[in-house]
Amino acid sequence: MSTTMNGGQQSVDAGMVNGYLPTVNGESRWEEQFLPIPLRIDDKIRAQKIEARLSKLVLCGATLRQVTDVFESEIEAGLRQKPSSLQMENTYVPELTDGTEEGSFLALDLGGTKFRVLLLELKAGKVMRDMVKLYEISEKLRLGPGEELFDFLAECVQDFVCSEGIENGKFSLGFTFSFPMRQHSISSGELITWTKSFNCSGMEGVDVAALLQRFLTARGLDITVRVLLNDTTGTLIAGAYLDRSVGIGVILGTGSNGCYMERACRVLHWERSHELVEDVCIDIEWGAFGDNGCLDFLRTEFDDEVDSKSLLVNSFTFEKYIGGKYLGDLVSSALGVLARDGLFPAEPAFGYLQTAHVSMFEKENCSSEVSGTLQALRDATGGCSALSNQDALVAQHVAHLISNRAAQLVSVCVATLVRRMGRARVAVAVDGSVFKHHPRIAPLMDKYVALLAPGRPFTVLGAEDGSGKGSALAAAVAARLAAS
Ligand code: BGC
Repeated sequence: MSTTMNGGQQSVDAGMVNGYLPTVNGESRWEEQFLPIPLRIDDKIRAQKIEARLSKLVLCGATLRQVTDVFESEIEAGLRQKPSSLQMENTYVPELTDGTEEGSFLALDLGGTKFRVLLLELKAGKVMRDMVKLYEISEKLRLGPGEELFDFLAECVQDFVCSEGIENGKFSLGFTFSFPMRQHSISSGELITWTKSFNCSGMEGVDVAALLQRFLTARGLDITVRVLLNDTTGTLIAGAYLDRSVGIGVILGTGSNGCYMERACRVLHWERSHELVEDVCIDIEWGAFGDNGCLDFLRTEFDDEVDSKSLLVNSFTFEKYIGGKYLGDLVSSALGVLARDGLFPAEPAFGYLQTAHVSMFEKENCSSEVSGTLQALRDATGGCSALSNQDALVAQHVAHLISNRAAQLVSVCVATLVRRMGRARVAVAVDGSVFKHHPRIAPLMDKYVALLAPGRPFTVLGAEDGSGKGSALAAAVAARLAAS
């Protein structure tokens, strides 16, 4: 777990602009703090031309306020079940661990190419032991018939319990299914649409918990699917286990999304009685933010290209700005445009540069190195011999602009939630490969959330493996509630 604190020192003062940051030396000072690091290469004219060509990737404070306003109104519309690009799904997760949970619980975590099976042993609410096994999900399974995928998931569970020698045990299971769902209860929900690298047939509208249960039972396993949740909810629960002030869960990995604890009375969609529920976890599904056109003012030609070459075109607009699946493609697209304008020696092959490259470019940029960047560019361009150290600096700058924009956009969402919740202090549990491995995203998020939610103390807490652990913890909570 890693923790950073922020926001506590800033007091709300009279200099506040539209309820945003109290500025020290006026509005221009505040604006300046959103600017990325400028491009520093020897040829100043080329630098200016490149900066001009990429200027739409630079979001100023005023634009971020505009995104904030749109996000707020989409949240309200979603909660009221009015047309909105935000699903604002009721997860039916009303309470978090209370420290009395006992027993062994299984969890499954499906969302990327690696599927995880976990076993958590709890005593007086404390995790005494956790076992994890990873299984690769082939492209054939990710794009084939849904039933084959779910049969494979049950096969992995069987393999796991056999390898642990617990195949004859009776278990409650939490299923983390990281795709948009329409939830009917804490243990049932239908897939709305696939995202990221999945597109299995015959699954939309299918209750994924019931389908998993069917395949587990068919294998003779005495396992009950007690909880169905999204990875953000899992991260929130795992974070709350570490720090009770956690009220927001964020995933910044291949895909991106957030959830938070909302007052139950502000939520319209209930399929269960909820008189005794005070707060409930809402899965925002912010990956789809902008799918109705409300964020078109942000869209660049690079975003158009990435979208048109993605697996699921015209969907998950916001995720394509910030998700790890797309950051490498965005860098390729921008370098391709520069190359066509004669500002870069060659176009990288689209799809070659991954988010790991973006992180590496940024790491080298932080330590004034270029060797890894240059090698990656040579590999991506089929060995272009004209590439120089100066070109590596240009590629690092592109990676920085795209990373800075991603950090700003995710910070808008987090800051909006921090402001909306209005608690004395709120902790944000974050998991995901981009958050963990990118050298600048986490510090930039600290900076931007503080700028966008002034006077609202918050803590960002890295909740490693939160999505899986949270699922097992949720199964424990559900088992406790079922027994009471
Ligand atoms: C899914 C979300 C998930 C996020 C992070 C998105 O593509 O729609 O449900 O939380 O990825 O994994």
